Amino acid sequence: APGVSVAIDGPAGSGKSTIARLLAEATGGGILDTGAMYRAVTWVCLADEVDLDDQDAVAHVAREIDLELGTDPNGASVVVSGEDITAAIRAQTITEAVSAVATNTQVRTILQRRQREILLATAAQRGVCVAEGRDITTVVAPDADLRILLTASPDARMARRAAELDLEDTEETRAAMRDQVLRRDRDDSTVSEFLVPADGVIALDTTELSVDEVLTHLLKLVEKVR
Ligand code: C5P
Repeated sequence: APGVSVAIDGPAGSGKSTIARLLAEATGGGILDTGAMYRAVTWVCLADEVDLDDQDAVAHVAREIDLELGTDPNGASVVVSGEDITAAIRAQTITEAVSAVATNTQVRTILQRRQREILLATAAQRGVCVAEGRDITTVVAPDADLRILLTASPDARMARRAAELDLEDTEETRAAMRDQVLRRDRDDSTVSEFLVPADGVIALDTTELSVDEVLTHLLKLVEKVR
């Protein structure tokens, strides 16, 4: 059987990576963190001192990168040329530079093709694959069995981002998170329109929902298409 492909999009702090991981765990499936691929390309560019404004040079990195992506929801690792960069790609330097890489249209074409392949292969192998990003429901897998757009209010997203980074919930961290979340929305909005659901995509506002509630809801939807 070809397996079930699930596409989840959403902005930074919408909870999509947590939800994708838990949904994959609950269904015995695999995950595909597409943001990790943009981050890995960014990591190589910074390590090799590639000028991020040089479109061809950055596209060359995306084409040639020796990238192994784990699809196991319990600890999906990111390995480049044998080096484990799973933690390194979460650094602030990467987060600040990644939009410059993600707006490179050549890079997007290269990574989107790889993402489609990984999604289909993993769904076939494990029965289910949950892919998350910004353009999965629209570009990478518009024909996925289930397509979800997770949204949440900016306040909820800031609070989640702060919790994720283990920061105390003070006025100061809120302000810092607000800057980060809103700046990334702006930078990423040139990437693709991911704040409005495309035709046939199920939008779910998670502002007032717990992780468990979102998960329960999505599990029902997966069972319907399974
Ligand atoms: O999801 P995450 O924060 O790890 O994504 C990092 C960055 O990669 C995003 O800010 C966005 O610029 C880019 N991205 C993208 N398309 C995707 C996934 C991520 O452009 N499908």
